Amino acid sequence: MSAVVPPTVAGGAAAPAGAPPLIVEHVAKSYDADGRIVPVIGDLSLNLNEGEIVAIVGPSGCGKTTLLNTLCGLISADAGRICWHGREISGQPAGVGYMLQKDLLLPWRTALGNVMLGLEIRGVPLSDAEERSHVVLDKLGLHGFAEHYPTTLSGGMRQRVALARTLVNEPDVLLLDEPFAALDFQTKLLIESDTARLVRESRRSVLLITHDIEEAVSIADRVIVLSKRPTRVKAVYDIALASDRTDMIAARESPGFVDYVRRIWADLDVARN
Ligand SMILES: Nc1ncnc2c1ncn2[C@@H]1O[C@H](COP(=O)(O)OP(=O)(O)O)[C@@H](O)[C@H]1O
Ligand SMILES: [Mg+2]
Repeated sequence: MSAVVPPTVAGGAAAPAGAPPLIVEHVAKSYDADGRIVPVIGDLSLNLNEGEIVAIVGPSGCGKTTLLNTLCGLISADAGRICWHGREISGQPAGVGYMLQKDLLLPWRTALGNVMLGLEIRGVPLSDAEERSHVVLDKLGLHGFAEHYPTTLSGGMRQRVALARTLVNEPDVLLLDEPFAALDFQTKLLIESDTARLVRESRRSVLLITHDIEEAVSIADRVIVLSKRPTRVKAVYDIALASDRTDMIAARESPGFVDYVRRIWADLDVARN
C-alpha cells in the first residue's frame, strides 16, 4: 500500500434515495507477479448499510487490503460492480475516509497540523480548519495535545490523531484497515469504544478490517468472514448483543459474545487450511 494515499476523500454528490452507501457485486482481482497471474479476490459480494459497522476478518494474505484498495478506487477490479450510494464511479469515491494500520502522520507537523491537512488541501479557511480540528481532537481525548509533534505521542495517541484526521472531513463511510492492530490491549479497547461512539452517534458507516475476532464481534453489527486466497465470503454473522454497543468491555461480557467468537474462530481455522 502506497504511503501517498490521501487521508480522506470528502464531499459528495447527491445519492439516489435509499441506496446503501456501498454495494459490492461479484468483484474479482488478480495481480500479475512477474508474468504469473495470482488470483487474490475470487468472487466477492457484500453490502454496507447506512449507520452500520461491518467487520471483515480473514486469513493473513487472503486479500483484505486489496479489497479495500479496490473499493476506494486505488486499484481497479478485474470484474464485478462496486456501487457507492447507488452509483458505479470511476476513480475515488467522494465522502470516504480511509485509515491504515500505520498512522502515516507527518513528523514535521503537530497533531493539529496533521488533522488539518485534508481541510487545508481542500481550501477550507485556516481558522475554520483549525476550529474543526480542535473539536475532533477534543472528542478523541486529545485536548491539550494539539501542539504536540507525533514523536512525542504514544502509539495510541498517534492512532487517535490519525482517526481525527480521517473524521474531520466528515466522511459518510470509513474504511479502516487494521487500525488498532499495533496497540496494546487496554489502549485498543479505549480507542475502539471511542470510535464506536463517534461513528454511531453520527450514523457513519464503517468497514473495518481486523484479524482480531473479539474486536470484530464487540464493535460490529455484522462480521463477514473471508476464505483464503482467492478470497470470497465464507460466512456472515449478524451480531445481536444486548449490551451498549459503544462499550467494548460490556460487549465482551454479553451473553452470546463467546459463542460468536468460537464460531468465527472455527470458520477461520478451516479457512486457513
Ligand atoms: N501489488 C501487488 N502485486 C502482487 N501481489 C500482491 C500485491 N499486493 C498484494 N499482493 C499479494 O496479494 C495477496 C493479498 O495481499 P493483501 O491484500 O495485502 O492481503 P491481506 O490484507 O489479507 O493480508 C498476498 O499474497 C500478497 O502478497
Ligand atoms: Mg492487509
